[in-house]
Amino acid sequence: MKLIDIIAGARPNFMKIAPIIRALEASRRAGGRLDYRLVHTGQHYDARMSGDFFTQLGIPAPQVNLEVGSGTQAEQTAAIMVGYEKLLLARRSDLCLVVGDVTSTMACAIAAQKLCVPVAHVEAGIRSGDWTMPEEINRMVTDAITNWFFTTSEVANDTLRRSGIAEERIHFVGNTMIDTLLANMARLQPPPFWDDLGLTVGNYFVATLHRPANVDSSDGFARLLAALGGATRGLPVVFPVHPRTAKTLREVGGVPDNICLVEPQPYLEFNYLVKHAKAVITDSGGITEETTVMGVPCITLRDSTERPETVTIGTNELIGTDPAKLQPALDRLFAGQWKRGGIPALWDGRTGERIVAVLERIL
Ligand code: UD1
Repeated sequence: MKLIDIIAGARPNFMKIAPIIRALEASRRAGGRLDYRLVHTGQHYDARMSGDFFTQLGIPAPQVNLEVGSGTQAEQTAAIMVGYEKLLLARRSDLCLVVGDVTSTMACAIAAQKLCVPVAHVEAGIRSGDWTMPEEINRMVTDAITNWFFTTSEVANDTLRRSGIAEERIHFVGNTMIDTLLANMARLQPPPFWDDLGLTVGNYFVATLHRPANVDSSDGFARLLAALGGATRGLPVVFPVHPRTAKTLREVGGVPDNICLVEPQPYLEFNYLVKHAKAVITDSGGITEETTVMGVPCITLRDSTERPETVTIGTNELIGTDPAKLQPALDRLFAGQWKRGGIPALWDGRTGERIVAVLERIL
């Protein structure tokens, strides 16, 4: 048997590993030679940011939890590297599989490669070009020491080719996050506050904001909230508050009446809210992929995206971080002028199986 470490650390990782684990288990039942060890780094540790996702998505309990918890970028990176190196020295694996672009992704790739354990990166090759985002540094460092690249788009393939990666190391497989979305579409369920907030299909917004550029200054964030409250014309704006955002919110006086602050939502409730919203307003990357597949208009408060196909093919539009840009964008939406959008190639729900088929070949 060959042992694959599957690394997960933060919320956006969990929906990406679920279909890979499902496909690995199916392959093992069919007599395959791949075994896996699920390693949770503990970067996210609250039930709302982590545990709920394991339960709802049927992800088995991690065999190992490095329990690194919070810290600065360097503290988290260092703690994850030390913890994962110890694990590899105690029992070496044959491959370290990392997903996405969080600190855990980069830290485990470095620890593995230094012990000559090969690395596979799922969601490789995407770039925002914005070096002020920690995720961009994580992407570049991870891809610089990755052996096998699993990609979500042709743009990512081209970026990797241009950086000199040989064609046979690039595997265009599609999007595991979309595997999870499609597999759970029929299970999506309204959150308990659906009736209390008077939500009806197509008559409310969903907002998520957690990037330092939008939420780390209380003055800037207060201006953004005021603009959001006004531009949405009194319709409810359901705003699940990320722990990082909660810190700034405590310094912001109040929020406009139509902004409804709620806890971070579990997967099935969050995507139910997205699916039935008039539009989503966000600074996340992953959510723009989900809105594209669900055909829900998405307004992104960022200047760049590492997922350009959500704009060129999907329903997403970048408006930058100036709160004044919200009003004209929402006016176009209310006027029924938002683009419709299509679905990028291979975002079809079968990416986990494709990844495992490649792993069976290369290991
Ligand atoms: C991380 C990821 C980001 C992802 C986001 C989604 C990196 C560099 N960033 O950012 O790509 O979009 O997760 O959630 O990896 N905290 C809690 N409970 C938790 C986790 C965090 O209270 O379970 C607090 C921490 O103490 C910290 C803050 O939230 O103060 C930020 O957490 P951190 O993991 O540093 O980065 P995120 O902003 O969550």
